Amino acid sequence: MEELLASPERCAGILQNRLVANMFFEASTRTNQSFQAAANRLGAKILVFHPQSGSGAKGESFSDTMRMVDGYSDAVIVRHPCEGAARLAADVCEHPVINAGDGGNQHPTQAFIDLYTVRKLKGKVGGVKVVLFGDLAHARSMHSLLYGLSMFKAKITLCSPPGLGMAEWMVEEARRKFGAKVAIEKKPDLSSADVLYTCRVQKERFGSPREADAAQAAFRVSKKLLEGANEELAILHPLPKVDEIDAEVDSDPRARYFEQAKNGVPVRMAALAMCMRGFGREGKGGRRVPGFSCKNQSCISGIEKAHWGWAEGAGLRVRCRYCERPAG
Ligand code: NCD
Repeated sequence: MEELLASPERCAGILQNRLVANMFFEASTRTNQSFQAAANRLGAKILVFHPQSGSGAKGESFSDTMRMVDGYSDAVIVRHPCEGAARLAADVCEHPVINAGDGGNQHPTQAFIDLYTVRKLKGKVGGVKVVLFGDLAHARSMHSLLYGLSMFKAKITLCSPPGLGMAEWMVEEARRKFGAKVAIEKKPDLSSADVLYTCRVQKERFGSPREADAAQAAFRVSKKLLEGANEELAILHPLPKVDEIDAEVDSDPRARYFEQAKNGVPVRMAALAMCMRGFGREGKGGRRVPGFSCKNQSCISGIEKAHWGWAEGAGLRVRCRYCERPAG
């Protein structure tokens, strides 16, 4: 897609006469804009949605809104503050649904962008040493990247301030399913790291703003942190950045986050074209477990009364079908 973008007339026919619904129920700049740019580049048209003037304001359920917009379009992109919202949308929609971020759960297309950027900069992903640094508890981009890096056999180090660590079940799953090599360290060792990936503290997912500010004060990418760091290090960030990267780091040649953001358009073009040209509706192994009750307060199943569990794997571990959190 990146090569095609060099001569835009070559991509404009790929999704000609198709309609994509862009359903953002939560703030976004890059993801929203880059999906729109991607759809436009491919010749598709976009249905834009403004949640404040939608029927949700009149009490309509998320599922009903999704089912209806599915009838108007050929694919649905959804961002929502609840975990599992994209899965629920996929259950009620006939057309492909792309998860553009579901609460603090996952952000798969951001992980595609991150993996693509690592591969472009380092020539590969396998064996590349990546440090995930910051709010690993709440940042969905970190969660999806953990899985992506694990699938491609990168060497992963997790480093976060106290209380902001990656959920143990996610790390355990990355190890069990993908044989991931994951180290957990208190301070990032950047002398041999190839990639430092950070992101802002996800303030909107904290109980109190004061707690979030305290967490933010506990980590920062500064010139000092970069003393002794690998000359070839690539500093990545899904953006937006707030206080976690000192402004002077922007001019360090190792800061590659604006380039990373630019990769969003070709990567999302690929995601749209693959979904809408008929690839990738593979069924998931496992079986449904009706009557399951998810304990995650941020899960969409609490609001929409969608009570399905999902059992998978040799031991048939049961987890929420929507936010994917294991039972218990
Ligand atoms: C991220 C998100 O929304 O999860 N941004 C993005 O999509 N590029 C990261 C963030 O908001 O911190």
